[in-house]
Amino acid sequence: MKRKKIAAGNWKMNFLPQDVDQFIETFQPNTANAEVMIGAPSIYLERLLALKTKGVQILAQDVSIHEKGAFTGEVSAEMLAALGVNGAIVGHSERRTYHHETDEIIGQKVNACLRAHITAVYCCGELLAERQAGHQEKVVEQQIRVALSHLTKEEAVKIVVAYEPVWAIGTGVTASDEQAEEMHAFIRQVMSAIWDADTAAQIRILYGGSVNAANADALFACPNVDGGLVGGASLKVSDFTSICQSANA
Ligand code: PGA
Repeated sequence: MKRKKIAAGNWKMNFLPQDVDQFIETFQPNTANAEVMIGAPSIYLERLLALKTKGVQILAQDVSIHEKGAFTGEVSAEMLAALGVNGAIVGHSERRTYHHETDEIIGQKVNACLRAHITAVYCCGELLAERQAGHQEKVVEQQIRVALSHLTKEEAVKIVVAYEPVWAIGTGVTASDEQAEEMHAFIRQVMSAIWDADTAAQIRILYGGSVNAANADALFACPNVDGGLVGGASLKVSDFTSICQSANA
């Protein structure tokens, strides 16, 4: 089963409005054989909708578990959908660390996206100490089972998973191609046990953690790596364009 690769940018809390405008003007990715997504701060989402004409999908970086009501500061999945936003990154390690998000909460965020018919990009990944103790498979299996195993097969194929070892995020220490492939194959095996092999074969699993223009080709060529979630390198038009090209290959 051929899965269409994805190059997804995660801008995190970067850029002022003029930087966003410049990015929109100059970014011209090849979307012939790959999907290109950008996850931006919520105040820039409406502005970024202009990139949809270039085939780019727009993501929020978080979403509320609630549908509406007295939740100051929150943005609902329904609001994102109504604005024309395509999806949301959920459970990023920075949300887990700084906002104490658990897999139970993140699972509810995935549900909120599904209810609003937008794509959830579900992030998981082990900490450095967990990798050093050899616990990476146990940790990631637990994250996926808690956050996702309640989904039906029909729901599961609509989500995107991003494996992001926390020790590789923003550190310049990328997982090796072998480490990435090993974990992605393992995640697909876990998903196959939760749903079935056919369902697991349809779900895109992105690698995240210090992806750059120089290492994207080799990472994305791994059989179970279906593209990348890219932080720092998604802020430079030329680098991100090159990474999108790697996803197109
Ligand atoms: P990085 O971030 O590419 O800067 O390591 C990836 C991410 O956090 O999604």
